[in-house]
Amino acid sequence: MPSKVTVGNNGPLRIEGDFTICDAEGREFGLAGRTVIGLCRCGHSENKPFCDGSHNRQGFQSQCQARELPPPKPKL
Ligand code: FES
Repeated sequence: MPSKVTVGNNGPLRIEGDFTICDAEGREFGLAGRTVIGLCRCGHSENKPFCDGSHNRQGFQSQCQARELPPPKPKL
């Protein structure tokens, strides 16, 4: 199943399907078989990059509607 990322209202990025999550050095996080996980986008999680529910306690507010992005700028 292809991966899908959903931008939750006032909460995490929910990723589901076939995906891997790696750190900056390319090492893969062990997800213990999870096929759905929330990635923190509020900046308050004590378990980054994963959501730990802190967005609720911090009153994080962000609602993003789907939209078209402009074409990428050519690389120099
Ligand atoms: S989005 Fe849930 S802790 Fe940041």
